[in-house]
Amino acid sequence: MEQTIKFPVVNLSKLNGEERDQTMALINDACENWGFFEIVNHGLPYDLMDNVEKMTKEHYKKTMEQKFNDMLKSKGLEKLETEVEDVDWESTFYLRHLPQSNLYDIPDMSDEYRTAMKDFGKRLENLAENLLDQLCENLGLEKGYLKKMFHGTKGPSFGTKVSNYPPCPKPEMIKGLRAHTDAGGIILLFQDDKVSGLQLLKDGDWIDVPPLNHSIVINLGDQLEVITNGKYKSVMHRVVTQKEGNRMSIASFYNPGSDAEISPASSLASKETEYPSFVFDDYMKLYAGVKFQPKEPRFEAMRNATAVTELNPAASVETF
Ligand code: OGA
Ligand code: NI
Repeated sequence: MEQTIKFPVVNLSKLNGEERDQTMALINDACENWGFFEIVNHGLPYDLMDNVEKMTKEHYKKTMEQKFNDMLKSKGLEKLETEVEDVDWESTFYLRHLPQSNLYDIPDMSDEYRTAMKDFGKRLENLAENLLDQLCENLGLEKGYLKKMFHGTKGPSFGTKVSNYPPCPKPEMIKGLRAHTDAGGIILLFQDDKVSGLQLLKDGDWIDVPPLNHSIVINLGDQLEVITNGKYKSVMHRVVTQKEGNRMSIASFYNPGSDAEISPASSLASKETEYPSFVFDDYMKLYAGVKFQPKEPRFEAMRNATAVTELNPAASVETF
């Protein structure tokens, strides 16, 4: 519990006032020591957030709940007599915003829901780009450095994973989402304001990321660990299931474009550069099969491209 209280919460509006330096330092400390922080006063309109939450919950009830229950039946997960380690207790769908939107190809969304998600996505994209510049400033990199590295020939990839974690009769038998680090750049998560479940691994302990009304949870993906040569870390996290309540989460992934060349920034690289350089898509191909494994062997495999096959990717998972 004590550790939960210390979870870094950053009041972004303070970046415009007298407490700018302390706020930038808080962000830097969170990036170095947590890989996660929660932001408040981020400028997203609260009524838009409330609307998105309400419509996401309605959409789940209307078009996803039955599919989820059918999935439980088809995978024999209704009784949960033994621990399940190869399935997640989650219902998801994916929206892509950049480089090309697929918002109008997704079936079963009301016009109102589509419009709200488009507006929400655009605002999160701007927020992600501002945050990347704040990271640049803390890292001593020129403004726009990270955005430029993510650009490739087609600009960044930006997508949203909309998830619901329905109540689970035996939470000890299955995770909502198994432990992993995120592959990409910076992740902005709008999570349920009441039902908890997200946890991160810090110094060997799983720590709750507390629900906080109208906040956005930020975390760093593997690419930022590579570019900062390990100064910042992508951190393992997972979602635990709950007996009561349906948890909603909307995770938006601001990632490099598929052909972006990723490498440690020269000012942060040490003489013996520890981290590899690669094309982002090659990393993603590897990640898709080994998402739920530790990141270090991925970095090692990218360092030595011939080792990629040794990681023996399992079946591909749909992922950002
Ligand atoms: C993810 C993730 C957390 C959540 O999708 O990568 O970590 O709370 N999601 O849904
Ligand atoms: Ni994640």
